[in-house]
Amino acid sequence: MSTTPYSKVAALWHPFLVLGGFDRGLRHLIKRLPYLPPNDAPLKVLDIGCGSAVMSFALLKRFPQAEVLATDMDPIMVREAVKHRDKLGIKRTQCAFACSDANYPHMVQYGCTGAYQELPHEAFDLVVAGAVLEHVDLDRAIQSVFALLKPGGTFLIIAMREEAFLSKVYERVYHCIPRSIETHRESLMAAGFQSVLVERTRLSDFSANLTRVAIIARKAPHVASSEDLAYTVPIIA
Ligand SMILES: C[S@@+](CC[C@H](N)C(=O)[O-])C[C@H]1O[C@@H](n2cnc3c(N)ncnc32)[C@H](O)[C@@H]1O
Repeated sequence: MSTTPYSKVAALWHPFLVLGGFDRGLRHLIKRLPYLPPNDAPLKVLDIGCGSAVMSFALLKRFPQAEVLATDMDPIMVREAVKHRDKLGIKRTQCAFACSDANYPHMVQYGCTGAYQELPHEAFDLVVAGAVLEHVDLDRAIQSVFALLKPGGTFLIIAMREEAFLSKVYERVYHCIPRSIETHRESLMAAGFQSVLVERTRLSDFSANLTRVAIIARKAPHVASSEDLAYTVPIIA
């Protein structure tokens, strides 16, 4: 795995998110988001481009029974995220880490060294991406996430708002490409997602509201085959 423009600020990234109110705002947003699975569901979650894992930790607050695999391309970011997990007293079994390029989120490198392993298709109930699709080929990443989701699974994108002033600053500093909601929607629908919903951030989500918007895409649930139907529908003679 390779370093990113975030490597240089990795040690300061999490304190910056906490002091700037982003961590609190994001937790508030995640807590109130509609269209997500029930809070007590034992979800399998994948957080791609996790950074210091603020999204993973916020999701574990809402879904305490979840098991998260958090990945980032930058091994230095991953190392910092592991430190924050341990400080917060979150168990390894609840939140594990690996390195992965979000262009190919199905290929992960545990320990950030050695061979890549391929995550199985339809392994996750929820995949989340916070401000990382801005760094990758959108269509390719979304197609790969679609394959990783179970039928009925959810893709939660906490995207950078294309029109926000601070997004333009990030674009320059971190060489990322904030995209419109419509671009996300088109790419999600082309990949096969059944529905796409948008939840705008509010003042009460400060300071996450300055840069982010939530896009929630749902994969169609498993369609019963004729064999399943023969099994479940009582046959009246
Ligand atoms: C703006 S931070 C977002 C962190 C966190 N997800 C959030 O929502 O605040 C972007 C993260 O994406 C990572 N990143 C950049 N390019 C990537 C890529 N191609 N694949 C995976 N991660 C990448 C960076 O290392 C950084 O940690």
